[in-house]
Amino acid sequence: MLVIAIDGPVGSGKSTVAEAVAARLELEHLDSGAMYRAVALAALRRGLDVEQAPPSQMAEVAGDAIVDQDDPDLRMPAVGQVVSIVAAVPAVRAVLVQRQRDWIAAHGGGVVDGRDIGTVVFPDADVKVYLTASEDERARRRERDETAADVARRDRLDSTRAVSPLVVAEGAVVIDTTSRTVDDIVDEIVGLLGSTERQSGHR
Ligand code: CDP
Repeated sequence: MLVIAIDGPVGSGKSTVAEAVAARLELEHLDSGAMYRAVALAALRRGLDVEQAPPSQMAEVAGDAIVDQDDPDLRMPAVGQVVSIVAAVPAVRAVLVQRQRDWIAAHGGGVVDGRDIGTVVFPDADVKVYLTASEDERARRRERDETAADVARRDRLDSTRAVSPLVVAEGAVVIDTTSRTVDDIVDEIVGLLGSTERQSGHR
């Protein structure tokens, strides 16, 4: 089972690159951020105050939430405003991490992007990548949906939370996407897969 883990901050290019790597390798793509967004959206629709709701209630929402990665409502500013608060709840993470592992097992592997994929969800992934880009470029990529201040706030919350903060995973290759094409980055990631195969001498 081949698993490629792609982590990074807001606007680093994770979803675009993950989708393109999956297409190139004919693998499935799991956008774990869409899961956290789906939980945030479901909580908002239930009228929950995500900062006050008991963790057990948030975990229940996480278990029940239907995730459609392509649902445009997941990108609503209101969801972006609360998603990092929802994602900091350990009980929510426990439920979603299990759902992510189950999804990958059911699909026989895949390309997964998020914040804790290489550190927590799939620490033994075949390839681990950490994408970055300059602050200006990341804000520019998001300017249609989020202000630069909102992007910075989400990154701060994601990097400083107690459970599964965004950090570079051990063994991850850091790739700066600032002025590179998607194709070029996909080439580099697919190339990493070749080098791990050679090193371990199998597959
Ligand atoms: O906007 P962007 O595509 O960078 O974010 P996303 O991947 O849609 O993720 C939205 C939010 O979900 C993040 O800001 C994190 O708070 C949370 N998240 C997480 O905590 N762990 C993951 N593996 C993926 C997302």
